[in-house]
Amino acid sequence: MKDILFRLPEIYRAAEERYNEIKETGGGDVFRTVETFAGGGENCLVRGDNLRYMAELLRSGYAGKIDMIYADPPFFSKSDYTINVKVGKQKGKLTLARNHAFTDRWKDGMAEYLENIALAMMLMKDLLSETGTIFVHLDWHSSHYLKVILDQVFGEKNFINEIVWTYKSGGASKRTFARKHDVLLFYAKSKGYYFQVQEEKSYNRDLKPYRFKGVREYRDEIGWYTLVSMKDVWQIDMVGRTSSERTGYATQKPEALLKRILDSVTREGDLCADFYCGSGTLGAVCEKTGRRYLLCDNSAPAVMTAHKRLVQLGSPHELTEEEGAGDDNLHVQVSLDKMEGVLDNTVISLTGLNYGDPEALGIDEKNLALLDTVVEYHYDELIEYWCIDPDYDGRTVRPKLWRCRDKKGIDIAMNLPSKQLKNPAVKVIDVFGNEYIYTKT
Ligand SMILES: C[S@@+](CC[C@H](N)C(=O)[O-])C[C@H]1O[C@@H](n2cnc3c(N)ncnc32)[C@H](O)[C@@H]1O
Repeated sequence: MKDILFRLPEIYRAAEERYNEIKETGGGDVFRTVETFAGGGENCLVRGDNLRYMAELLRSGYAGKIDMIYADPPFFSKSDYTINVKVGKQKGKLTLARNHAFTDRWKDGMAEYLENIALAMMLMKDLLSETGTIFVHLDWHSSHYLKVILDQVFGEKNFINEIVWTYKSGGASKRTFARKHDVLLFYAKSKGYYFQVQEEKSYNRDLKPYRFKGVREYRDEIGWYTLVSMKDVWQIDMVGRTSSERTGYATQKPEALLKRILDSVTREGDLCADFYCGSGTLGAVCEKTGRRYLLCDNSAPAVMTAHKRLVQLGSPHELTEEEGAGDDNLHVQVSLDKMEGVLDNTVISLTGLNYGDPEALGIDEKNLALLDTVVEYHYDELIEYWCIDPDYDGRTVRPKLWRCRDKKGIDIAMNLPSKQLKNPAVKVIDVFGNEYIYTKT
């Protein structure tokens, strides 16, 4: 690490070489739409490597088409991020180890990390529209090195702001000031970028009115204030333990942070992207504010979390997977029981579940034993999302009915008029992000 300053040119050139190669040969027909939720449309959630996905977007006409990119990559924290799966009825806790939601460890250290992020940024620049902007979310681990690299990729003159996002949560050390901020490096593609000034409250001294001529003053429960242009230090709470936003995904960012970005640099209908989407925060905020989105993550638990979050919001989207991203470890038993008579419905119910190779889940031994019990008696606790496509075309599931796990649990039976069931498929996603598609044939 100590010679990293002198290696920056070499790191940059290596990224450029890979960039040229990826642009020529990357992408290809390796992405497949596996589910079209509520009609799909242009919104897309992709499970796969973001470099290949961006190359594919560039090949398929998306160069210069994205209005805003939010990039929240690993920070070079040298940590693994896990998801805890709580199995309610068992009062136990399955702690996954496959688990890492994702790893932020780099075999060749900072040089490897910087080369990867530099390469991703080069592709993102090509995808940005002329009026577009990018926010790169980092912290003290690497923001200083990446500032130098981003100046080179986007052009020093296109650097707009260093935003400090400050929060209260998290621990503190006895040997440092408590580390309570992240950094967002904000760049534009060109000087014609779209920007809408936001305002914030600025409380008067002593909270009393100034009564200056021509200055509008307001009052709230704290006291008197004026409205000023928003500053580059943002105090926004992290997603707390009891927050309704909380998905359980490590590193989840607050919707309020993304909302502020979207309000500042996008308009309704704009296309926004997040190629390190984690739990899908950007997608959720786009859905709530009328923007379109492209999301990507290479972690199965991340994509499962984001998909479920978007389904719960009723957000139309395509779920796309890179070839080889899925596995066939999960098996689910399904029953289709016809209810003759007045209703003439078919009740479709999930009746059991097992794993081809439970050890591949990466759970430690203690929890593996617990998993056995859960699979036998409480298999429903392992189901996060399931849906029914009454007329499956063998490629893409188009859900007609669906269920997501919430605090109360999940329904494991749904019914449909029998005459609608032409070629039924039942798709199930478990708490680990594994998928299974049941078809009658
Ligand atoms: C800091 S988290 C993002 C959290 C997200 N902003 C949220 O609100 O939940 C970084 C994410 O980048 C993903 N990631 C890392 N490298 C990737 C790659 N090459 N392709 C796609 N996703 C990647 C990780 O799986 C992880 O979910």
